[in-house]
Parts: sequence; structure tokens; C-alpha cells
Amino acid sequence: MYNIAVIPGDGIGKEVVEATLTVLNKLPIEFNYTHLVAGDACKDDCGVALPQETIDVAKDSDAVLFGAAGETAADVIVRLRQELNTFVNLRPVKSLEPEKYGDIDFMIVRENTEDLYIGDEETTNDGAIARKRITKKASEKICDYAFKYAVDTNRSKVTAVHKANVLKVTDGLFRDTFFDIAKNYPDIEANDFYVDATAMYLITNPLDFEVIVTSNLYGDILSDEGAGLVGGLGMIPSANIGDDNGLFEPVHGSAPDIAGQGIANPVATILSACMMLDYLGESDYARQVEKVVIEVINEAKTVTPDLGGSASTQEMAEYIASKL
Ligand code: NAI
Ligand code: MG
Repeated sequence: MYNIAVIPGDGIGKEVVEATLTVLNKLPIEFNYTHLVAGDACKDDCGVALPQETIDVAKDSDAVLFGAAGETAADVIVRLRQELNTFVNLRPVKSLEPEKYGDIDFMIVRENTEDLYIGDEETTNDGAIARKRITKKASEKICDYAFKYAVDTNRSKVTAVHKANVLKVTDGLFRDTFFDIAKNYPDIEANDFYVDATAMYLITNPLDFEVIVTSNLYGDILSDEGAGLVGGLGMIPSANIGDDNGLFEPVHGSAPDIAGQGIANPVATILSACMMLDYLGESDYARQVEKVVIEVINEAKTVTPDLGGSASTQEMAEYIASKL
């Protein structure tokens, strides 16, 4: 039995998490869910966006399944990643419809604990200042993770993304650390690009990428761009992994423009649950669910509007569950 902390959050977070539980409940695995609150509505109701109880239960769980927060995202998900010390955020950009999007398949390995996302901002006399923290230790850890990931998944290349021509000290440290770590992996090709050029190469040469390792902010931005290459934000899952905790969530946010309509694509969250199954050591079930998701998407019959169908979030999830 696995103890799962479930944090649906705001907007479509609630809808896609409910849909994902419909799928998980079809598996012959016993899950003990603890439903926890966090997000904008939670802040309105109880004064804080991320209650201590939510943090404590999440820390003690075997894994956390998270939906999305709204405007409180920095206080909720960015803080949760830091509290759980999940130092890596894995964001697979994989085309599930090769006929439409080609064979795009790369992994973004995003540093999850520092960079501008430490949120150290202050008002000054003439405006405002934000501090960007890059440490050697966190850079070593994330770069090593990326190379290990490449070895484990039979990839041949890791690309570091930074802006060391302008941010010479911070991003310079990240780049230099990357090439130091690369020396331990002589069989893996190591190269690097500036983040602005990467934003273009992802569109012009997406097949050239295998594993991207980058700092927090660039990873956030490039993963949404990656989503745009393979069918949108409804398609990209993510895993936040640390030494003691795993938190699994779609890359997208609370999508207020479609929230409450029951039309959000549940695939990103269902695939996040597959990453959770992998983390829990239930990879056979993870592959089974993935296979059915891919079949259902390509059949294009019972899918949500963003995938060209007219099914609701819950109808699509029930259809996926029915095929398991
Ligand atoms: P968003 O990711 O919520 O939505 C961007 C666009 O993608 C919207 O047009 C939305 O309708 C579409 N979209 C997203 N997920 C979808 C799905 N599953 N199916 C179909 N379409 C989908 O980003 P946005 O609009 O910039 O932010 C909305 C709110 O979410 C903000 O309050 C923001 O702070 C929060 N946010 C929270 C995150 C988190 O909790 N991890 C991450 C990103 C944003
Ligand atoms: Mg984002």
C-alpha cells in the first residue's frame, strides 16, 4: 500500500487530479490517499496558501500528486519543491502523435531549488532588485543527474542551456560545472547553447535534443515551449525528485480561461501519475497506462477539445480507465 498526498489546488488542478484518480483507481494497487488543501482558494479560506499540515503530510507520504495552484503558485508549488528538497524537475517533451508532431523526444532536467526562484526580491529607491543564486553544489547535483539519466535511458548527448555570455558569474558557474561533470561521462556527448538560441533551435531542430539540463527559470520557460511542440500544455507531465520525496504534477497551471468547464486535458496529470508509478517501483503499470493513453489520443474519439474531440475531462479519463 502506498500513502499518497493529493493536492488538487485551484482551477483545472481539481479537475485533472480527479480524472487521474479515476485512472489510478482502476489499477490493482492499493493507494491510501490523503487529500490536502493549498492554493488561492485555500488562502481565501484559511489565510495561508500552503498550510503547515499540507507540508508535513506531503513530506511523510510515499509520493505527492499535485494539480495546480493559481496566483499563489510561488508560495505553493515553488515552496513545496523547496520544502521537500526535490532538487530535480524532470519534464519529458515527447510527441505522442508522431504523424502530427514528428518524433520529438527529449527530457528537460530542470534545477529546482535555486536561481531567481528563491524569490529574494526587494524594493529599492529606484525600482526593485531580485537575487539569482547559483551554487556549485546544486549545479553539480543537477548536471550529474542529467548525465546519469542519459546513461540510464541510452541517450547519447546532454545539452546545457544558460546565458553565460551575459550572466558571466552565475551562469558561468553553471556552465563550467557542467563541463567539469561531463568529464566523468566520456561516452556521453556534452554541448551547450545560450538560452535565447535554444528557444529557436527547439523550433527549428527539435530532433537534435536528447537531454537538456538547465537552471530553474530557463527550464520553466523552455518546458512550456516544449509543450507547444507536441500538442500543448495538456500533454506534458513532470516529476520533482529528491533524496526523500517525489512530487508529481502537470507542467501547466490552473488555466482560469477554461476552469470549471470540464474540458481540461487530463493527459499531463495522468502521465505525471505514471512518473509517480515509476518512482514507486510500479513501472509495469506505468507502461500499461501510458500505452492506453497513447492509443486513446491517436484514436482521437474520446478526447478533450484541445485534442480535437468533444469529450469532457472526466469522460476521457473514464474511457482510459475502461481500457485498462
Ligand atoms: P496555464 O498553464 O494555466 O495555461 C496556459 C494556457 O494553456 C491556457 O490557455 C490554458 O487554457 C491552456 N492549458 C493549460 N493546461 C491545459 C490543459 N490541461 N488542457 C487544455 N488546455 C490547457 O498558465 P497561465 O494561464 O499562464 O497561468 C494561469 C494560472 O496558473 C496563474 O495564476 C499562474 O500563476 C498559475 N500557474 C501555476 C502553476 C503551478 O501550479 N504549477 C504553473 C503555471 C502557472
Ligand atoms: Mg511553468
